[in-house]
Amino acid sequence: MSALFSGKGFSGNIKITQKEFLELRDIIYELSGIYLQDNRKFLIENRFAPRLSELEFKSYSDYLDYLKKHPKGKTEELMMLTELITTNETSFFRDNSQLKVFRNFTLKKIIDEGIKSGRREIKIWSAGCSSGEEPYTLSMILHEALKDDIRKWRIMITANDISSNVLKMAEKGIYTRYSLRTTPPYIISKYFEDRGNDVFRIKPEIKRLVRFGKINLNLDRDLKRIPRSHVVFCRNVIIYFDKKMKIRVLNGFHHNLLDNGHLYVGHSEALHAVTDKFKPKQHAGTITYHKI
Ligand SMILES: C[S@@+](CC[C@H](N)C(=O)[O-])C[C@H]1O[C@@H](n2cnc3c(N)ncnc32)[C@H](O)[C@@H]1O
Repeated sequence: MSALFSGKGFSGNIKITQKEFLELRDIIYELSGIYLQDNRKFLIENRFAPRLSELEFKSYSDYLDYLKKHPKGKTEELMMLTELITTNETSFFRDNSQLKVFRNFTLKKIIDEGIKSGRREIKIWSAGCSSGEEPYTLSMILHEALKDDIRKWRIMITANDISSNVLKMAEKGIYTRYSLRTTPPYIISKYFEDRGNDVFRIKPEIKRLVRFGKINLNLDRDLKRIPRSHVVFCRNVIIYFDKKMKIRVLNGFHHNLLDNGHLYVGHSEALHAVTDKFKPKQHAGTITYHKI
């Protein structure tokens, strides 16, 4: 990551006015579907300060003019904006209680049905995959469940994000110990190559199942080009969207999922007030959703 992007926590001193905030918020929403609540001015000031300083702008009005009028502002800068506004926090085996439900119920059902029908195929979509920890975790869970039989299965984990920076990290598959903070030790020794100095590399058999690509969940045409899935994981992503955007994205997942497909969202992302296209199922400590 460049110094610019690693400066997400930089505290600058250019203040954003209410009018500038509302204008920038609209641009961000139109671009990504990410909706900034009224109290997020500080977040903008904090994250955008290094960028404004790099471009030598003295105010957010200058930056807004650049975004609206300059050829580079209307194109390349929108990519920069995406990098600055997304929150990419993640880890391997994040929310393990939910992943246990995935393995013991959802995956077991898909495997049993695949064996019964002779169609040994598993297709999973990790939407908003950040730097790859979630889809690689799913690949490890599949290896653990199928063991040597994994060779007999056609498996595809499609993993997408709007941020090019995190996708580059995901493709590399190299992580520090911090990313492994919620990973069982036997998984670390089995599926990572320890390269010393707290650097770990994903083993090729785990990487092989995952295809990364850039998509914007705000664009229907992007949603429609994802292969249909047995399971969609979209955890800790829709929390950043408003209700209208959540409905659009959930409709996209409904359309993508195969009959009786399963949807996993983050544990704070209840769907009951948003859509009735998915039926909730309560498990110990987690809720899963099924396509109706
Ligand atoms: C907090 S991370 C969650 C990562 C992972 N799913 C997890 O639960 O650990 C949210 C991710 O959603 C991505 N994201 C936000 N808006 C998006 C959009 N409109 N299209 C695609 N990805 C988006 C961000 O770039 C970020 O990497």
